Amino acid sequence: MTQDEQKRMAAEKALDYVKDGMHLGLGTGSTAAKFVDLLGERVKAGLHVLCVPTSEATHEQAKKLGIPLATLEELPHLQLTIDGADELDDKLQLIKGGGGALLREKIVATASDEMLVIADASKHVETLGQFPLPIEVERFGLEATINLVEKLGRDAGCEGRIELRKNRFGDPFVTDGGNYILDCHYGRIPDAEKLAQYFCKIPGLIEHGLFLGIAKAAIVAGPDGVRIIEA
Ligand code: A5P
Repeated sequence: MTQDEQKRMAAEKALDYVKDGMHLGLGTGSTAAKFVDLLGERVKAGLHVLCVPTSEATHEQAKKLGIPLATLEELPHLQLTIDGADELDDKLQLIKGGGGALLREKIVATASDEMLVIADASKHVETLGQFPLPIEVERFGLEATINLVEKLGRDAGCEGRIELRKNRFGDPFVTDGGNYILDCHYGRIPDAEKLAQYFCKIPGLIEHGLFLGIAKAAIVAGPDGVRIIEA
Protein backbone atom coordinates (compact mmCIF):
# COMPACT_ATOMS: atom_id res chain seq x y z
CA MET A 1 0.00 0.00 0.00
CA THR A 2 1.42 3.39 -0.95
CA GLN A 3 1.80 6.28 1.45
CA ASP A 4 -0.93 8.07 -0.47
CA GLU A 5 -3.32 5.15 0.01
CA GLN A 6 -2.52 5.11 3.73
CA LYS A 7 -3.33 8.83 3.96
CA ARG A 8 -6.66 8.21 2.23
CA MET A 9 -7.44 5.29 4.55
CA ALA A 10 -6.84 7.46 7.63
CA ALA A 11 -8.98 10.22 6.13
CA GLU A 12 -11.81 7.77 5.41
CA LYS A 13 -11.76 6.46 8.97
CA ALA A 14 -11.99 10.03 10.29
CA LEU A 15 -15.41 10.36 8.66
CA ASP A 16 -16.74 8.00 11.37
CA TYR A 17 -16.12 10.79 13.89
CA VAL A 18 -18.18 13.36 11.99
CA LYS A 19 -21.82 13.70 13.02
CA ASP A 20 -24.60 15.64 11.33
CA GLY A 21 -24.77 19.26 12.48
CA MET A 22 -21.17 19.41 13.71
CA HIS A 23 -18.95 22.47 13.65
CA LEU A 24 -15.57 21.33 12.35
CA GLY A 25 -12.03 22.63 11.96
CA LEU A 26 -10.42 21.59 8.68
CA GLY A 27 -6.67 21.02 8.66
CA THR A 28 -4.01 21.72 6.07
CA GLY A 29 -1.68 19.47 4.08
CA SER A 30 -1.98 16.49 1.76
CA THR A 31 -3.64 14.17 4.32
CA ALA A 32 -6.12 16.80 5.48
CA ALA A 33 -6.87 17.56 1.82
CA LYS A 34 -7.98 13.95 1.32
CA PHE A 35 -10.33 14.28 4.27
CA VAL A 36 -11.75 17.53 2.86
CA ASP A 37 -12.41 15.78 -0.49
CA LEU A 38 -14.27 12.95 1.25
CA LEU A 39 -16.19 15.40 3.43
CA GLY A 40 -17.21 17.27 0.27
CA GLU A 41 -18.75 14.05 -1.07
CA ARG A 42 -20.71 13.57 2.16
CA VAL A 43 -21.95 17.16 2.05
CA LYS A 44 -23.18 16.62 -1.51
CA ALA A 45 -25.01 13.55 -0.24
CA GLY A 46 -26.82 15.64 2.40
CA LEU A 47 -24.54 15.87 5.48
CA HIS A 48 -24.86 19.18 7.36
CA VAL A 49 -21.65 20.62 8.76
CA LEU A 50 -20.19 24.08 9.20
CA CYS A 51 -16.41 24.29 8.90
CA VAL A 52 -13.54 26.63 9.73
CA PRO A 53 -10.47 26.10 7.51
CA THR A 54 -6.94 26.43 8.92
CA SER A 55 -5.42 28.00 5.79
CA GLU A 56 -6.24 29.87 2.61
CA ALA A 57 -5.43 26.69 0.65
CA THR A 58 -7.96 24.61 2.60
CA HIS A 59 -10.48 27.43 2.35
CA GLU A 60 -10.19 27.38 -1.46
CA GLN A 61 -10.47 23.60 -1.64
CA ALA A 62 -13.50 23.41 0.68
CA LYS A 63 -15.24 26.30 -1.08
CA LYS A 64 -14.92 24.57 -4.47
CA LEU A 65 -16.43 21.42 -2.98
CA GLY A 66 -19.44 23.34 -1.67
CA ILE A 67 -18.66 22.73 2.02
CA PRO A 68 -20.36 25.41 4.17
CA LEU A 69 -17.66 27.63 5.70
CA ALA A 70 -17.38 30.15 8.49
CA THR A 71 -14.55 32.14 10.00
CA LEU A 72 -13.33 31.51 13.54
CA GLU A 73 -14.69 34.96 14.42
CA GLU A 74 -18.16 33.80 13.40
CA LEU A 75 -17.74 30.37 14.98
CA PRO A 76 -15.26 30.63 17.87
CA HIS A 77 -16.14 27.22 19.33
CA LEU A 78 -15.82 24.01 17.34
CA GLN A 79 -16.56 20.42 18.25
CA LEU A 80 -13.85 18.66 16.28
CA THR A 81 -10.77 19.54 14.24
CA ILE A 82 -9.31 16.98 11.86
CA ASP A 83 -5.75 17.62 10.73
CA GLY A 84 -2.56 15.90 9.61
CA ALA A 85 0.84 15.99 11.32
CA ASP A 86 4.47 15.87 10.29
CA GLU A 87 5.36 13.66 13.24
CA LEU A 88 3.50 12.14 16.18
CA ASP A 89 4.61 9.98 19.09
CA ASP A 90 2.81 7.58 21.43
CA LYS A 91 1.95 10.41 23.84
CA LEU A 92 0.24 12.25 20.97
CA GLN A 93 2.85 14.97 20.96
CA LEU A 94 2.99 16.38 17.44
CA ILE A 95 5.22 18.35 15.12
CA LYS A 96 3.15 20.41 12.69
CA GLY A 97 3.82 23.23 10.27
CA GLY A 98 5.47 21.48 7.35
CA GLY A 99 2.94 23.28 5.17
CA GLY A 100 3.49 26.57 7.02
CA ALA A 101 0.01 26.73 8.56
CA LEU A 102 0.93 25.91 12.17
CA LEU A 103 -0.34 29.13 13.77
CA ARG A 104 -3.87 28.95 12.37
CA GLU A 105 -3.85 25.19 12.86
CA LYS A 106 -3.06 25.59 16.55
CA ILE A 107 -5.61 28.38 17.02
CA VAL A 108 -8.35 26.29 15.37
CA ALA A 109 -7.36 23.05 17.15
CA THR A 110 -7.42 24.69 20.59
CA ALA A 111 -10.79 26.30 19.82
CA SER A 112 -12.15 22.76 19.36
CA ASP A 113 -13.36 20.30 21.97
CA GLU A 114 -11.25 17.65 20.26
CA MET A 115 -8.45 17.41 17.74
CA LEU A 116 -8.20 14.23 15.70
CA VAL A 117 -4.94 13.57 13.83
CA ILE A 118 -4.90 11.62 10.59
CA ALA A 119 -1.60 10.25 9.34
CA ASP A 120 0.18 7.53 7.42
CA ALA A 121 2.47 5.22 9.40
CA SER A 122 5.66 7.08 8.39
CA LYS A 123 4.62 9.96 10.66
CA HIS A 124 4.57 7.83 13.80
CA VAL A 125 7.94 8.10 15.57
CA GLU A 126 9.48 7.11 18.87
CA THR A 127 11.03 10.53 19.55
CA LEU A 128 10.08 13.79 17.82
CA GLY A 129 12.66 15.82 15.91
CA GLN A 130 13.71 13.97 12.79
CA PHE A 131 11.31 16.27 10.92
CA PRO A 132 12.68 19.84 11.21
CA LEU A 133 10.56 21.69 13.76
CA PRO A 134 8.86 24.73 12.15
CA ILE A 135 8.42 27.90 14.17
CA GLU A 136 6.57 31.00 13.01
CA VAL A 137 8.46 34.21 13.72
CA GLU A 138 8.01 37.96 13.43
CA ARG A 139 10.07 39.50 10.60
CA PHE A 140 11.29 42.38 12.78
CA GLY A 141 14.54 41.50 14.52
CA LEU A 142 14.86 38.17 12.71
CA GLU A 143 18.58 37.68 13.48
CA ALA A 144 18.08 38.43 17.17
CA THR A 145 15.24 35.92 17.26
CA ILE A 146 17.38 33.27 15.54
CA ASN A 147 20.12 33.84 18.15
CA LEU A 148 17.63 33.27 20.97
CA VAL A 149 16.16 30.19 19.27
CA GLU A 150 19.69 28.75 19.05
CA LYS A 151 20.53 29.58 22.65
CA LEU A 152 17.31 28.44 24.30
CA GLY A 153 17.11 25.38 22.06
CA ARG A 154 20.57 24.39 23.27
CA ASP A 155 19.50 24.96 26.90
CA ALA A 156 16.62 22.55 26.25
CA GLY A 157 18.99 19.93 24.86
CA CYS A 158 18.36 20.60 21.16
CA GLU A 159 21.08 21.51 18.69
CA GLY A 160 21.03 21.80 14.93
CA ARG A 161 20.81 24.08 11.91
CA ILE A 162 18.15 26.81 12.09
CA GLU A 163 17.03 27.63 8.57
CA LEU A 164 14.82 30.42 7.25
CA ARG A 165 12.24 28.70 5.02
CA LYS A 166 12.31 29.84 1.39
CA ASN A 167 9.67 29.58 -1.33
CA ARG A 168 10.33 28.17 -4.80
CA PHE A 169 11.64 31.55 -6.00
CA GLY A 170 14.28 31.60 -3.26
CA ASP A 171 12.49 34.33 -1.30
CA PRO A 172 11.49 33.91 2.35
CA PHE A 173 8.30 31.86 2.68
CA VAL A 174 5.51 34.05 4.07
CA THR A 175 2.69 32.49 6.11
CA ASP A 176 -1.02 33.30 5.76
CA GLY A 177 -0.47 35.61 8.75
CA GLY A 178 2.38 37.46 6.99
CA ASN A 179 5.22 36.00 9.09
CA TYR A 180 8.36 33.96 8.41
CA ILE A 181 9.06 30.32 9.26
CA LEU A 182 12.28 28.95 10.76
CA ASP A 183 12.90 25.22 10.39
CA CYS A 184 14.92 23.77 13.29
CA HIS A 185 16.92 20.71 12.23
CA TYR A 186 17.35 19.13 15.64
CA GLY A 187 17.26 15.48 14.66
CA ARG A 188 15.97 14.65 18.13
CA ILE A 189 13.91 16.58 20.68
CA PRO A 190 14.52 14.81 24.01
CA ASP A 191 12.05 16.90 26.02
CA ALA A 192 9.36 18.61 23.93
CA GLU A 193 7.64 20.17 26.96
CA LYS A 194 10.88 21.81 28.07
CA LEU A 195 11.65 23.13 24.58
CA ALA A 196 8.13 24.57 24.28
CA GLN A 197 8.51 26.30 27.66
CA TYR A 198 11.86 27.81 26.68
CA PHE A 199 10.51 29.00 23.34
CA CYS A 200 7.77 30.93 25.19
CA LYS A 201 10.53 33.28 26.43
CA ILE A 202 11.31 34.53 22.90
CA PRO A 203 9.27 37.62 22.03
CA GLY A 204 9.85 37.35 18.28
CA LEU A 205 8.62 33.77 18.23
CA ILE A 206 4.92 33.86 17.39
CA GLU A 207 4.20 30.12 17.69
CA HIS A 208 6.04 26.83 17.46
CA GLY A 209 4.97 23.66 15.71
CA LEU A 210 4.96 21.49 18.84
CA PHE A 211 1.36 20.51 19.59
CA LEU A 212 1.45 19.19 23.16
CA GLY A 213 -1.64 18.00 25.02
CA ILE A 214 -3.86 19.16 22.15
CA ALA A 215 -4.65 16.02 20.13
CA LYS A 216 -7.15 13.63 21.72
CA ALA A 217 -6.68 10.78 19.24
CA ALA A 218 -4.80 9.85 16.09
CA ILE A 219 -5.76 7.58 13.23
CA VAL A 220 -2.57 6.09 11.86
CA ALA A 221 -2.90 4.04 8.68
CA GLY A 222 -0.19 1.54 7.76
CA PRO A 223 0.22 -1.52 5.54
CA ASP A 224 -1.64 -3.65 8.13
CA GLY A 225 -4.59 -1.31 8.43
CA VAL A 226 -5.67 1.44 10.76
CA ARG A 227 -4.50 1.95 14.33
CA ILE A 228 -6.07 4.39 16.78
CA ILE A 229 -3.82 6.07 19.35
CA GLU A 230 -5.67 7.79 22.19
CA ALA A 231 -4.39 10.37 24.65
C1 A5P B 1 0.60 22.14 7.66
O1 A5P B 1 1.16 23.31 8.16
C2 A5P B 1 1.05 20.98 8.47
O2 A5P B 1 0.94 21.10 9.83
C3 A5P B 1 0.44 19.68 7.99
O3 A5P B 1 -0.67 19.30 8.72
C4 A5P B 1 1.47 18.66 8.09
O4 A5P B 1 2.60 19.21 7.44
C5 A5P B 1 1.08 17.34 7.47
O5 A5P B 1 1.04 17.47 6.09
P1 A5P B 1 0.90 16.22 5.14
O6 A5P B 1 -0.41 15.59 5.44
O7 A5P B 1 0.97 16.80 3.76
O8 A5P B 1 2.06 15.32 5.42
